[in-house]
Amino acid sequence: MNRRRLSLLAFLACFAVTASASPQAQAQAPDAGPYVPTPQSIVDAMLAMGKVGANDYVIDLGSGDGRIVRTAARRLGASGIGVDIDERLVKMANDEAAREGITQRVRFVNADLWNFDTSGATVVTVYLLPSIMPRLKEKLLAELKPGTRIVVHDYPMPDWKHEDYQALREPLKVQAHGLDTAYLYLYVVPPKK
Ligand SMILES: C[S@@+](CC[C@H](N)C(=O)[O-])C[C@H]1O[C@@H](n2cnc3c(N)ncnc32)[C@H](O)[C@@H]1O
Repeated sequence: MNRRRLSLLAFLACFAVTASASPQAQAQAPDAGPYVPTPQSIVDAMLAMGKVGANDYVIDLGSGDGRIVRTAARRLGASGIGVDIDERLVKMANDEAAREGITQRVRFVNADLWNFDTSGATVVTVYLLPSIMPRLKEKLLAELKPGTRIVVHDYPMPDWKHEDYQALREPLKVQAHGLDTAYLYLYVVPPKK
């Protein structure tokens, strides 16, 4: 079995543990993936790959504890929003943003990413299951403005040539994936036909 397949199986195993934790968790099993936080070094690398700056509006689809959007605001002066289907994580993200004093520039909403309008983004970040990537690619290509950057952690968009790629060693990845490497891909939305 190759390393990438092993990584996916570990990610899915984590999902199975999450989903079996309680009947409530089962009822709300997220279709786009379980909560597996991106290590901070990889968050920093994603924002650098997306060339995020003070003029950017970052949308993280499946935002967990909000660390990607919060880091973009705190360290780079960006604005943004995170969307997550898990109400508990949304509260955690908003509480952290308040503690960090960045609520004028970031917020987190409890919603299904499939119903969330991404058109305002200049940068979109994604760390979700590979099985949803074909549908997500269609949604993003339909909604985003040409030139919008999309930074994807671990699972690439199918049939879309990336503009940049990095494989980064990070020991914290082992806990979630059994592998010590994160894979990052940068896509840029092409001009409309
Ligand atoms: C792998 S975690 C990534 C968290 C965060 N983006 C990060 O990188 O640290 C995926 C997140 O997506 C959320 N999620 C899964 N399906 C979703 C859906 N349909 N709509 C919104 N959020 C969803 C989960 O609750 C989880 O927090």
